[in-house]
Amino acid sequence: MASFSFSFSGDDIEDDGAIGTTQDAAGAPAASSLQAQDVSSLVAPTAAGGAAAPAASAFPVQGKPQLPPQRHDIKEMLSKLPSKIAFSLLDVELDSRVVSGGSSGGGSSSDVPRAEPYRIRLPRRELWDVKVQLMAEEDAEDGEGGEAGSADELAPGLGTHDVKTGIYEGGFKSWESSVDLVKVLLQPPSSASASTPEPSAVAGTVLPQDGPAHVIELGCGTALPSLALFHWACATAPLAAGTGSSRRSHPVSLTVADYNPSVLYLVTLPNFLLAWALQQRDTSPLLQQALSFDDEDSGGGGGGDDNGELELPDEVKVAFCAFLVSADITLSFLSGGWSAEFVDLLYAPSAPSAPSAADATPAAHTLVLGAETIYSPFALESFSVTLLTILHRENGTHATSTTATATAIVGAKKLYFGVGGSLDDFVQRMREAGVTVNELRQEADGVRRGVVQCLL
Ligand SMILES: C[S@@+](CC[C@H](N)C(=O)[O-])C[C@H]1O[C@@H](n2cnc3c(N)ncnc32)[C@H](O)[C@@H]1O
Repeated sequence: MASFSFSFSGDDIEDDGAIGTTQDAAGAPAASSLQAQDVSSLVAPTAAGGAAAPAASAFPVQGKPQLPPQRHDIKEMLSKLPSKIAFSLLDVELDSRVVSGGSSGGGSSSDVPRAEPYRIRLPRRELWDVKVQLMAEEDAEDGEGGEAGSADELAPGLGTHDVKTGIYEGGFKSWESSVDLVKVLLQPPSSASASTPEPSAVAGTVLPQDGPAHVIELGCGTALPSLALFHWACATAPLAAGTGSSRRSHPVSLTVADYNPSVLYLVTLPNFLLAWALQQRDTSPLLQQALSFDDEDSGGGGGGDDNGELELPDEVKVAFCAFLVSADITLSFLSGGWSAEFVDLLYAPSAPSAPSAADATPAAHTLVLGAETIYSPFALESFSVTLLTILHRENGTHATSTTATATAIVGAKKLYFGVGGSLDDFVQRMREAGVTVNELRQEADGVRRGVVQCLL
């Protein structure tokens, strides 16, 4: 079995955008890890036992079919969650907003506009909490005295590998480009009285106020880009109480897809629950009771790394589902390998949120997202083919409409050392297929990365 690490195995982004430390199953910080900037030390793939191995083999693994595409029922997924989940908040610094000067520290006032930093805080379920859940389930199955398996046996990917080709494709951890995508999608509120970040100009072309919008995140993992848009969708829901944000008048559908069902069950859905609970808690006594923070003084609103827990009695799960209905938000979860069957499932007419299904409102706007989905030649090719199929289908569906749009925003490293795959290869692949590619963002901080927009 090909398994490899990008040398930041077991690690994941931290508030400062660097590759940080993870925690072990007991919550203790694991050994400090490499900084993302430490490019020179990025190593070639290693075999499971740590011995040097040739570059990751082609996917799928010989003799092993890819996981078949599957749709997951949100209520069933919710029923599998434990009675509480632990989380931490990740600060994402959006591009600064310009505000008028106001009072200066010296007592004099100035109207000179100045750039003010603005950040959004996105919740992520703690990985140690996922491991605790799996070990508890394993114990319950084995009965008293049963021996819990290692994290890697319980869910491949919770151990030390970034990727285990064909088994686990990296979704438990947040990768750097997913943060870059958040920065491309959202901007600080344009009015001083508003408290919610809003879609950026580029996201606004597909998430306008004038029609239903579909967001499809391929290879979502912890789903930070979708969470950022979900935060906006919750805050602008028709029923949301006075935050000063402008209200949506149209439905928003978010489809999140990961290769591994376990990722969707254990981190993706919990992250949406957490994002909702944190966004809505000011207006909900139920959520105020269900949420607690390690540092009660910060209440999740202050700086630093806040951690907390969300209790999950049935009432909270029911309230979540009821909110989604009343806020005109549909969440759909798909797993399995990118393939023609995967796209068929995405568009299956029975799907409650089938993007642009034949009977959906024709003036739909579709935004496909992908962060760090092209990290090997196989991933690059299967992602590209899947994306092209979706964009072509959208074009076909809306052939007669002048207002519909379908676009993709993809973030990736400039080069995936040792495994192949690069943003340039992806851009070339798209251009050869007739897609217009615009560069939206470059990141030189840490491993070099970029974000591009693809339009057919
Ligand atoms: C490196 S992770 C990135 C996760 C997340 N987007 C982020 O940036 O944090 C790659 C993602 O692509 C998905 N993926 C990779 N190869 C895939 C394939 N052949 N079919 C479906 N999904 C795949 C994985 O499940 C995983 O979520």
